[in-house]
Amino acid sequence: MADIEIARSGAVLELTLNRPAKKNALTNAMYRTLNVALDEAERDAGVGAVLVAGAGDVFSAGNDIGDFVAAAQDGEMAGADFVRKIAAFPKPLVAAVDGLAVGIGCTLLLHCDLVYATPESRFLLPFVDLGLLPEAGASLLLPRRVGMARASAWLLAGESFGADEAFAAGLLNAIPATDSLLTTAREKAAQLAAKPRAALMAARKFLRGDTAEILARIEAELDAFRKALASPEARAALMAFLNKGK
Ligand code: COA
Repeated sequence: MADIEIARSGAVLELTLNRPAKKNALTNAMYRTLNVALDEAERDAGVGAVLVAGAGDVFSAGNDIGDFVAAAQDGEMAGADFVRKIAAFPKPLVAAVDGLAVGIGCTLLLHCDLVYATPESRFLLPFVDLGLLPEAGASLLLPRRVGMARASAWLLAGESFGADEAFAAGLLNAIPATDSLLTTAREKAAQLAAKPRAALMAARKFLRGDTAEILARIEAELDAFRKALASPEARAALMAFLNKGK
């Protein structure tokens, strides 16, 4: 079974994070697959929207921690390109979240146009607790989206939050029942994909704000993130996770 499942339903491309044994944590290889799929979706006139979901009862536990430790040595962070790509992606992105959405599993939602999450969903941005920094433009987009109070509680204090709070904060469009999550998200994605394409893409671009500003913040965050990754405090926190139970 591939760690990223790619399926096409009409004009909607579905990307499913499919590494449930590791809580759909994203590896460099998975990001590379996502990046190629997004490039193709951008080029393919038959694709009108992209839907991102997670296999099993988790959306994603974020970046693979082992890959973070390796990145501190070899520098490879395929997630950086993924983040740049979703920030500049020209077609609608829809997310279907069930279960945990941690780290990039949560910040990627800031780049989605419509986000649906089940009542069981839980969100966590543990960057600072790991000795790391917010990424994917979250330091810019999250306070803008949910206000500084919530952004500070979530990004600095590392407080987790549930679907109700995420909905109240404006991060979610709706909280469908668990068994109708995918149907709802698929319907909404198909509706977007069926709209007049040029008008939708242009309207979306205005709504999402200044791409150059977002990309600049992403680069600044990545720069700081790489430095943090090499720090003793990050290494200690990441190794503590990898050594848990040993
Ligand atoms: N990177 C690598 N492996 C991960 C992972 C991650 N981000 N998240 C989970 N896994 C692995 C665990 O190591 C475990 O592997 P094992 O079965 O070989 O031991 C497996 O996935 C199941 O995770 P486990 O921790 O046993 O499940 P849980 O239900 O007790 O906890 C989480 C789930 C997501 C709360 C917990 O795994 C976690 O905190 N993960 C790290 C999240 C994180 O900090 N991500 C980075 C954000 S920047």
